[in-house]
Amino acid sequence: MSEIAILEVNGKKYEFPLIKGSENELAIDIKTLRGVTEGVTTIDAGFKNTGSCKSAVTFLDGEKGILRYRGYAIEDLADKADFLETSYLLIFGELPTAEQLEKFHVDIANESLVDEEMKKILNGFPKSSHPMGVISALTSALISFNPESVNVESEEEMYKAIVMIMAKFPVLSAWTLRKKAGLPLDYGDKHLGYVENLYKMMFSKPNEEFKINPIVLDALDKLLILHADHEQNCSTSTVRIVGSSHAGLFASLSAGISALWGPLHGGANQAVIEMLEDIKKDGGDYQKYIAKAKDKSDPFRLMGFGHRVYKNFDPRAKIIQVAAEQVLADLGIEDPVLDIARGLADVALNDEYFKSRNLYPNVDFYSGIIYRALGIPVEMFTVMFAIGRLPGWIAQWKEMRENHEPIGRPRQLYVGEKFREFKAVENR
Ligand code: CMC
Repeated sequence: MSEIAILEVNGKKYEFPLIKGSENELAIDIKTLRGVTEGVTTIDAGFKNTGSCKSAVTFLDGEKGILRYRGYAIEDLADKADFLETSYLLIFGELPTAEQLEKFHVDIANESLVDEEMKKILNGFPKSSHPMGVISALTSALISFNPESVNVESEEEMYKAIVMIMAKFPVLSAWTLRKKAGLPLDYGDKHLGYVENLYKMMFSKPNEEFKINPIVLDALDKLLILHADHEQNCSTSTVRIVGSSHAGLFASLSAGISALWGPLHGGANQAVIEMLEDIKKDGGDYQKYIAKAKDKSDPFRLMGFGHRVYKNFDPRAKIIQVAAEQVLADLGIEDPVLDIARGLADVALNDEYFKSRNLYPNVDFYSGIIYRALGIPVEMFTVMFAIGRLPGWIAQWKEMRENHEPIGRPRQLYVGEKFREFKAVENR
């Protein structure tokens, strides 16, 4: 097989190299396109066919429903690893040894204090603020308290910045939740495990001893692992593109959080529960909502269904569906919203509209159900996603800087007015 692709433009042929990934995926390398064709560009709205980088972090095969972090199957990681181990794997490329993991944990624990002045910023937000806006702003504000920019050539500096954000982000996230709930801020306990500590910081009450429920802890850990990376999705691409201008790690992450907020991306977990609640309030007739989703004159979409890359099934959804059923059974929660979710999924999976478009429940269809069972307010769901995605964003940012990627700057096809003479305001 020849290792080239040929493109014919207005009768002239151009050759471009075909490059192969480690899973035999093929890509046409068009970096010389504009030069050799004297300005022809490509258009690919939503980047559905465009690879923005070479990456060794996450492999995803949407047709086969495969997701692997650094070569390890998501099913194995969710079953056998914990979130901190998975974070180390994503960020540094290998599963940590026991000593490396212990050091990572201790280093993070030692960085987990947040400057007291940050509380003033948090308190400046009205209680009604959406937590995603608050956490994005707080992540940006962290820069002012840690102003040194990271020298990406220095492994030590890079490690320090990574440990700092891995330590402070869960504290700020938990504070955001506590402020909304009217609870005093908690600094956690540096002797607890990473997810255990997050759990404590979110749920401890000042008037009772904090006890860990192992079922809740396990579900939280799994959810964070499942969300930890997903190659070049909207928020990760945002982190990489902001970082490509050599903006710092925290600034890039703050932008990623904003991208995640949208209901078509991370905000879907909130939107799913709101949709299920609406269906419940409306009498529980989910068939009506299936019909609305299929009606092209109605902008309604079935939240938690469909995915840009998974066109068969979302492997994360399979794992989380089982976990959701287990958590609800173990906690003895009977949630009518779950019955609506089950019914909706059954109908949609057998409906021609959804089948022909390969629309299956995605991870967010079930994650919101677990968060709800754990007592996390609906507006915090996407923050939970962000805590999970943090190591993925860090890993991708680090890779982008270490590979010396050029600044991200797409082209366009201009379709506006041609040159026009300027008219003074009195002549318009
Ligand atoms: N409900 C009804 N119809 C849908 C849906 C849906 N949820 N998703 C896609 N479609 C239809 C869409 O109308 C289009 O139909 P047609 O071909 O007749 O015009 C077809 O399916 C293809 O849709 P698309 O919008 O071109 O697909 P996309 O790859 O651009 O969008 C998506 C992917 C996830 C944004 C979209 O499926 C969606 O809006 N889903 C609901 C929101 C959601 O659950 N998002 C969470 C994604 S998982 C978490 C994450 O990784 O961020």
